[in-house]
Formats: sequence, structure tokens, C-alpha cells
Amino acid sequence: MRCHLDKKTTVITGGASGIGFALAKVALQKNHVVFIADIEQDALKRALCELAALGDVVGTTLDVTDTLRVHAFADTVFNETGHVDYLFNNAGIAGALGFIWETPLDLLRHVFEVNVIGIMHCLQAFVPRILALDRPAHLINMSSTAGVTTLPCFGQYQISKHSVVTLTESLHHELALLTGKVKASVVCPGLVATRIGESSRNYPQVLREKLQQQNRHSVSQQWLNACLSGLQQGADPLHVAQTIFKQVEENLFYIFPQADILHNVKARQDAMCSGTCAPMPAYLGP
Ligand SMILES: NC(=O)c1ccc[n+]([C@@H]2O[C@H](COP(=O)([O-])OP(=O)(O)OC[C@H]3O[C@@H](n4cnc5c(N)ncnc54)[C@H](O)[C@@H]3O)[C@@H](O)[C@H]2O)c1
Repeated sequence: MRCHLDKKTTVITGGASGIGFALAKVALQKNHVVFIADIEQDALKRALCELAALGDVVGTTLDVTDTLRVHAFADTVFNETGHVDYLFNNAGIAGALGFIWETPLDLLRHVFEVNVIGIMHCLQAFVPRILALDRPAHLINMSSTAGVTTLPCFGQYQISKHSVVTLTESLHHELALLTGKVKASVVCPGLVATRIGESSRNYPQVLREKLQQQNRHSVSQQWLNACLSGLQQGADPLHVAQTIFKQVEENLFYIFPQADILHNVKARQDAMCSGTCAPMPAYLGP
């Protein structure tokens, strides 16, 4: 067993690329021991090569939808360090774009399985052990702007990301009933320049084929094109990760690394209170 009781421990799912990889860099710069887990083996190897130069990092191949493997991952982390200070439930995938009534349900289920049940698996594996230690820790769940606003044609992803927000609000209230030491936050980034638009690279083969065969209505295709070009011009993942860490350390619950989308959240709340559907947010669109 390696003992790192003197250092903080940060655990990041989906840490091999994008925002998760950037979070790992920031945590290493803070001299934390970092555990990254990711489904994508080659990306994990590349990430570990780069991150090892920055500090103490351990990588594990992991599919967050596999509950037994997630528990085994938690065993590894606790055996190695004895504690967890920050758990970033970051692994996530985009869904196929399209109208709600045409959404293939097995794709919807898969997106929900990764983005929501994956977080549940991690919470169920880590939280009892974190609580048993009776020391400060922070659980951070990755939602999205798509978890607090609603665009057309993004139903699969939005259903999962809205769920992550309410899941984390439940978590916050439940932790507060038990302890003041363990906190929760939910992160809602806007567009960030990562490979999220190529999420199907990690879909099971059968779903990848289904996605390729999907006949997309021209309206959905326009939204898809807008999304892909929006992602290319999205924020720098490292800058986003630095902002997320700063706001976690400031103990914010709702974390919006790009504050310019907050007026869309306010518009949705105002519309709800007046009984109308929220206006379409303007941050993305054909
Ligand atoms: N990029 C954006 O614009 C954006 C905006 C809002 C929220 N997000 C969220 O940020 C998180 C990170 O996404 P990203 O943009 O860095 O995308 P990304 O595709 O670059 O990184 C996601 C990582 O998660 C991993 N992953 C996917 N499925 C997994 C599984 N089943 N088990 C374990 N690992 C898995 C991938 O291999 C990848 O390394 C996601 O939850 C995403 O929904 C992204």
C-alpha cells in the first residue's frame, strides 16, 4: 500500500480527455494525488504519460456503468491513500440529436446510464467510505448548461443533465442532514472545446451503428451543425477546469464556469413563475 495521508486526493472519472483531463492537471498543480478513471484505454495511456510529469497520478480503465468495477476502483483508491478529498463525477457522453418522438430509446437509455447511473454508481461506492472517515470532502457532479436550460433537438442529453442537477440537489440536502463536513456541487459548463461531439467513439458497437443509420430531420441536422461548430469555438478546457476548482474551493453549490449563460437560467425561472415555457436560450442555434 502506498501512503499519501499528507496529500489531498482527487478522483476524476472521464479523466483521460477534455475537462476531466484539465481537472487532473489543475489538481496535480495543487500537489494532490490524482486518480483518473476512463473507458478509453489509449486516451488514458496518453493522458498518464503527460500527467506523470506533473506529479503523482494513477490511471484505471473503467466504465462507470459497471457497478462492480466502480466499487473495485473505490477499493483501489482507499487502499492506496486512505481518503478522498475531491470526487469529480465528470465522465459523460452526448446523445444523438433529434426530435423527442423519434429518439431511439436504447440510445436514450445508454446516455442516461452513463451520465446519471454512472454518477450513482460512484456515489454509492465512495460516499459511505467518505462519511465513515468523518473528515472534509467534496463531491462534484458534472451537469451542463443543458441541465438548467432547454434547447430543441437535445432531448437525450438534456434529460440526463437535468437529472444530474436534481440528483446533486438531493445529495446536498441529504449530506446536510448528516454532516457539515462533506459538500456537494453541480457544475454547469457552457460550450467547451473538447471531444464531447465525438462521444459515439465510446458507445457500444451496436449503438454506434444505430446512430450512423439514424435518419435525421433537416431541422435536427441544423442544430447538430450549430452544436459542432459551437464546440470548436468553445472555452479552453484548462481555463474551465481552473474556474471549477476555484469555485469548488469557495464552496459554491451551483458552478457556472461561464457566467454569461446565467441570464438564460434567470429567464427560465421567470418563465416558470409566470406559467409560460422558457424562451429558447440564445447561446446556441442554427
Ligand atoms: N464540452 C462541453 O461543451 C461540455 C459542456 C457541458 C458539460 N460537459 C460535460 O463535461 C463532462 C466531460 O466531457 P468533455 O466535454 O470533457 O468530453 P470528452 O469526450 O472530451 O471527455 C469525456 C471523457 O469521459 C470518458 N467516458 C465516456 N464514457 C465513459 C464511461 N462510460 N466510463 C468512464 N469514462 C467515460 C471519455 O472517454 C472521455 O475521456 C461530461 O459530463 C459532459 O457532459 C461538457
